[in-house]
Amino acid sequence: MKRCTDEQTTRLAAHVFVCTNERDSEYAACAGAGGEETTAAVKTWLRERDAFWSPIGVSTTDCLGLCSAEGTAITIQPRNEWYAEVSPEDVPALLSEAFGEDADDVA
Ligand code: FES
Repeated sequence: MKRCTDEQTTRLAAHVFVCTNERDSEYAACAGAGGEETTAAVKTWLRERDAFWSPIGVSTTDCLGLCSAEGTAITIQPRNEWYAEVSPEDVPALLSEAFGEDADDVA
């Protein structure tokens, strides 16, 4: 095990986690509700602003407990912001509200 230093972790002002969980059951899961497409929209929005992974990280994740057939669950940490039923079309407005239009509101 290697404990990471502040220098390694503080380059990230925030981290966006997008659920892409698959579920083989009758219950909805984000994989079937556009999880991969929503992840791609998040990455594209950040890349267009030169903010992808520095200063804003992006990771896919398993279930966030906000499952819906209507869209994907997202959380932004450490801000403790949570969203459900996010579609790829929602991503620009969501991220603009969270980080500013130019992704420079990351304090
Ligand atoms: S499957 Fe995505 S929040 Fe549960």
